[in-house]
Amino acid sequence: MQYRTLGRTGIKVSPYALGAMMFATSFGNPDPDDSARMIHKALDAGLNFIDTADAYGDSEEVVGKALRGRRDDVVLATKFGRPVGDHPHHQGASRRWIVTAVENSLRRLGVDHIDLYQVHRTDPATDVEETLSALTDLLRAGKVRAIGTSQSLASDIVEAQWVAERRGLARFRAEQAAYSILNRGVEREVLPLAQRFGMGTLIWGPLGQGLLTGRVRKGERNDLRRAHLLKHLTDERRLDVVEQLVPLAAEAGLPMTHLAMAFVIAHPGVTSALLGPRTMPQLDDLLAGVEVRLTDDVLDRIDAIVPPGTNIGALDQNYQPPAVHDPGLRRRPLAERAAA
Ligand SMILES: NC(=O)c1ccc[n+]([C@@H]2O[C@H](COP(=O)([O-])OP(=O)(O)OC[C@H]3O[C@@H](n4cnc5c(N)ncnc54)[C@H](OP(=O)(O)O)[C@@H]3O)[C@@H](O)[C@H]2O)c1
Repeated sequence: MQYRTLGRTGIKVSPYALGAMMFATSFGNPDPDDSARMIHKALDAGLNFIDTADAYGDSEEVVGKALRGRRDDVVLATKFGRPVGDHPHHQGASRRWIVTAVENSLRRLGVDHIDLYQVHRTDPATDVEETLSALTDLLRAGKVRAIGTSQSLASDIVEAQWVAERRGLARFRAEQAAYSILNRGVEREVLPLAQRFGMGTLIWGPLGQGLLTGRVRKGERNDLRRAHLLKHLTDERRLDVVEQLVPLAAEAGLPMTHLAMAFVIAHPGVTSALLGPRTMPQLDDLLAGVEVRLTDDVLDRIDAIVPPGTNIGALDQNYQPPAVHDPGLRRRPLAERAAA
């Protein structure tokens, strides 16, 4: 395994990490013992980086139990900020929630520290200085080793770096961004910015959440578990691109999954890509692809199908800044909308 450094933290991580979202028993793999076997198999194969979140059902408990006795071999990442239950305070990036959320995650994981603690989504209601100041205290207390963000806009990444510098606070050291052959938008600003600021990146959705697995073909019903939940899984524009990628993968002699994984880790701004298997056969297939490297010819052909820096449709879970949700933020009052 060619370990990479997570930004400038000095922490060595494998180019593929294990995403634990589908180990939630309520909506992923219902058998925690099977998930534990998958976690052990991934570790035995050399993956040393695991990502979960407080909002992924009981995933933190499943991961924590599986890691007993092996905790020190793993760079353990989790997240806070997405709603956990219905209580209005149990979400966001306020100091009030962070100090509680970290204790909850430590308890569920059964560990005394988290290696990478990430803000799951930008919280427009909280000043980033407030968030950084609380996270800096967690770093000093030894509860977390590094801090990061997820789904950040480029402007939020820059602002957080400036605030940290101005106020003498800890800096975000990693960004967890969505990136795949179908969603290349982060090639424009987010990945280059991460490189510029010495941040690592952890990529989610390298398989397009199942679209880039060969299981989805235009005009056919597919068996993806989340097909009824996520609109982007049935977006015709994305399916048209999948139809062009299928023959390319076949000509390259690769399964679609391996083409999709290897594409993501070939970018110099990517530290590690999350593999999100739900079942053991899926994990076996993904592990069989860890040595795949794409040639320039294959990457050129992908560029010709999906131009660099472009997105084919949007992911349902993409963070949308307030002005996208709220018409009042992008419309002047009626009386001011004309020039005269
Ligand atoms: N930061 C964020 O906002 C965010 C958001 C989402 C995920 N994540 C992280 O990213 C990780 C990966 O999640 P993802 O859903 O985005 O990942 P993904 O790898 O793009 O998609 C995973 C899905 O693809 C299918 N699959 C996986 N391996 C397969 C294989 N070998 N053959 C056929 N199908 C396969 C499974 O679908 P079926 O279940 O339908 O079989 C699986 O649920 C998560 O565990 C989590 O850690 C982060």
